[in-house]
Amino acid sequence: MSQPRVAILMGSINDRDVMGRAADVFDRFGIDYEWKVSSAHRTPHATHEYVSTARERGIQVIICGAGLAAHLAGAAAAATTLPIIGVPINGALDGLDSLLATVQMPPGIPVATVAIGSPGSRNAAYLAIQMMALSDDALRQALEDDRAAMRETIHAASAELAEEVARRHANR
Ligand code: RP5
Repeated sequence: MSQPRVAILMGSINDRDVMGRAADVFDRFGIDYEWKVSSAHRTPHATHEYVSTARERGIQVIICGAGLAAHLAGAAAAATTLPIIGVPINGALDGLDSLLATVQMPPGIPVATVAIGSPGSRNAAYLAIQMMALSDDALRQALEDDRAAMRETIHAASAELAEEVARRHANR
């Protein structure tokens, strides 16, 4: 069994759908991960223990998703010098409370905060991969390939629009 290099933490099992979008990206890139429910408020000691020992288990980056008073990423950042990426989850106020709770860290204890919800969760995984790709050429190439595929999708969608407008004009 290979050793996971990234961890996904979520404050509640109810955050699973959103945090699953990060897992989808790791699956697509063939990256093994740990994921678990770990709450800054409900299981503070277990969260601290898990995060503070993550580096010695080979974890390089930790992604934390939480909603409401979203302190999980900040609590994790306090317990390690590994990079922490925070995903604000919408529990109330359209997720703005979570966004601010996650992003507004005091200087010296950063949390790299991504967008609210599923788009942010996907980007959290991409950002983690970009960090790991700093010292992993195969991952860097996989990211380049992914960007090329993205470009291809956009060009194909645009070509489809051009065909549609040609049909619309012809049918006037
Ligand atoms: C946070 O509070 C969790 O991250 C979750 O998003 C929110 C609500 O938790 P549940 O009451 O749904 O478990 O700790």
